[in-house]
Amino acid sequence: MRVLQESPFWRWTYPYRVRRICREQMPLPFQHLTSTKQLSRSDTDAILVKAKEMEAVVAKGEANHVLQGKILASLFYEPSTRTRLSFESAMQRLGGQIITAEGIQFSSMYKGETLEDTIMMVSQYADIIAMRHPEQGSADRAAAVSTVPFINAGDGPGQHPTQALLDMYTILKERGTLDGIHITMVGDLKFGRTVHSLSYLLGLYKDVRFTLVAPQELRMPEKVTSFYQEHAVPYTEVESIEEGLDADVLYMTRVQQERFEDKAEYERLKLKYVLTAAQIKGRDITVMHPLPRVGEIATDVDALPNAAYFREAGNGVFVRMALLAMLLGKA
Ligand code: CP
Repeated sequence: MRVLQESPFWRWTYPYRVRRICREQMPLPFQHLTSTKQLSRSDTDAILVKAKEMEAVVAKGEANHVLQGKILASLFYEPSTRTRLSFESAMQRLGGQIITAEGIQFSSMYKGETLEDTIMMVSQYADIIAMRHPEQGSADRAAAVSTVPFINAGDGPGQHPTQALLDMYTILKERGTLDGIHITMVGDLKFGRTVHSLSYLLGLYKDVRFTLVAPQELRMPEKVTSFYQEHAVPYTEVESIEEGLDADVLYMTRVQQERFEDKAEYERLKLKYVLTAAQIKGRDITVMHPLPRVGEIATDVDALPNAAYFREAGNGVFVRMALLAMLLGKA
């Protein structure tokens, strides 16, 4: 098992190719980030390099107040702990400030205001917006009218691009590479937006392959499998978790209760896969999960060096610091 300090990532002195990418491509070639499909491999490398710099700044306790005077509007119309708090932490660590709204029932959308009108108002109150919303496609609608940079912090079963970026950063740190990774994704691959976003991003790297473990009802949607096919990314679909343990990364997901119309079906599927320490002990496999977990990883896994999910959540701050600075042209 690789440990953090030994990871090649930490010995990585930026190769010429990545330095060149950073010079040529900062700031990022888009104003809004709603989907990982917008990101090239060069964009992704540039964000990961900047995140590493941000992590070093935080580790040294240095002040980096490049976003002083800037305001982030943090709009969370669906529950969140990690994404919201790490965006807010990232903004504050860079010297910026936050305004926030949570829950549609506490906003004027409850009174019938459209999402578009809300975003046009908020664009005048803030310099950048991060929004989570329960409807797929809401991020694109918001970005279409926003006059300031807009970041999708999760749109229903659609996309969660910043989670995918922090997942990429975590894989790079834990495994020392993104090329050649064999990743097994387990659980709710139908509604789990993080596995969709991560597939589109990791699929851009060389010799990556996917093993998909899901019950028939929650298989990876065709929009993602057709992406694998178009990009010649090998993938295998299986139903047993044991068939996916010969991988570098085991990416567990929660069955998304809030997306089910039939609650009985949710009850039947929710604990279809439960990872225990005994299944992976002694294996060189990194266990990730976007969190929250609701039983699909037993707590006895937490003590194993394989368990990277809490480190993964911590990485969200550095990646979001990088993204905020880059989208605001302050990188
Ligand atoms: N991973 C993630 O999106 O977590 P939250 O729902 O707590 O933001």
